Amino acid sequence: MATLVTGGAGYIGAHVVRTLQERGERVVVVDAREPDPGRNRDAVVRRLDLLAPGSAEQLRTLIIDEGVEAVIHFAARKRVDESLARPVWYYEQNVGGLAAVLAALEGTAVERFVFSSSAAVYGSPEESFVTELSPTRPINPYGRTKLIGEWMLDDAVRAQSFSAVSLRYFNVAGAGWPDLGDPETLNLVTIVLDRIERGLPPVVFGDDFETPDGSGVRDYVHVVDLAHAHIAALDQAGEPGSHRVFNVGTGVGTSVFELLDMVADVTGRRFETEVIARRAGDPAAVVARTERITAELGWRAEHDLRSIIASAWEAHRHARDHGPSA
Ligand SMILES: NC(=O)c1ccc[n+]([C@@H]2O[C@H](COP(=O)([O-])OP(=O)(O)OC[C@H]3O[C@@H](n4cnc5c(N)ncnc54)[C@H](O)[C@@H]3O)[C@@H](O)[C@H]2O)c1
Repeated sequence: MATLVTGGAGYIGAHVVRTLQERGERVVVVDAREPDPGRNRDAVVRRLDLLAPGSAEQLRTLIIDEGVEAVIHFAARKRVDESLARPVWYYEQNVGGLAAVLAALEGTAVERFVFSSSAAVYGSPEESFVTELSPTRPINPYGRTKLIGEWMLDDAVRAQSFSAVSLRYFNVAGAGWPDLGDPETLNLVTIVLDRIERGLPPVVFGDDFETPDGSGVRDYVHVVDLAHAHIAALDQAGEPGSHRVFNVGTGVGTSVFELLDMVADVTGRRFETEVIARRAGDPAAVVARTERITAELGWRAEHDLRSIIASAWEAHRHARDHGPSA
């Protein structure tokens, strides 16, 4: 029995691969990237682009040969700005990639499926706290590809008789191991650490929101907690034909200024900040309500903001000194 992790060479995927391995499980990684033995050590790693011709057939053969019974599907493009610039490519990549994986499951023994969804499906919600029943109105192609993915799973689980869980991640940050830090500067934590390291002031987009200190409020969840949410989803798969959706956040909102204060405290660095105008579409506050995942999967976040920043800082310095997965 093995678990297939698509996108397992990526930031979150690599954490889940290691967490599964720590439980003694066999893991098969499929990723379009050049395999990095340091990142996915002891896993079976296949380089495969899900959009390549014949990918579903290759994947089905791999699933059967390796005895795969569960799939976690991370492989996707995740840049909102890029999705606005190249929307059709985003639909091809994210919707097409999921379609290829689901096509590959037909005729295999796969019974459980976990899908990386996103808080981006909520768009700019009217209420700051969102439950899984809040309206889903994504405001960019990236968010729409995730919502379409959920719809595709609604239909596929019934027709193909497996069980699925979609996890709507909030703002993921931190590192479980110093060599598995987020190598990209796409989220606030890595952007801020990168800028202070380079002696540049972090940029704050708007200090006139209707929030206690005027800056935007988000829900930051530690990647290790997120990895455990995937394990809980795999361990407590529903009935064949079921597709359940869960928010994965902490339920605690953190403002940009609070986050910057924590960065200064953890790193010991002093820095100026640059406040500029809000970005179009940025909501004042988006925070997860997490009652459903706690009630149904027994999961709750255990790491706080300090732990997120401290582990991200350690990983940032590790990447600077040794390269990303030395
Ligand atoms: N990082 C976040 O804050 C966040 C938040 C919400 C949702 N997500 C979702 O979680 C998943 C993982 O995110 P991440 O931060 O680890 O991203 P990442 O970019 O680090 O990892 C994604 C991996 O998928 C691979 N991949 C992409 N397209 C592929 C394809 N066509 N075929 C094979 N491999 C492909 C990439 O090579 C990469 O290794 C994504 O689906 C993303 O949309 C991430």
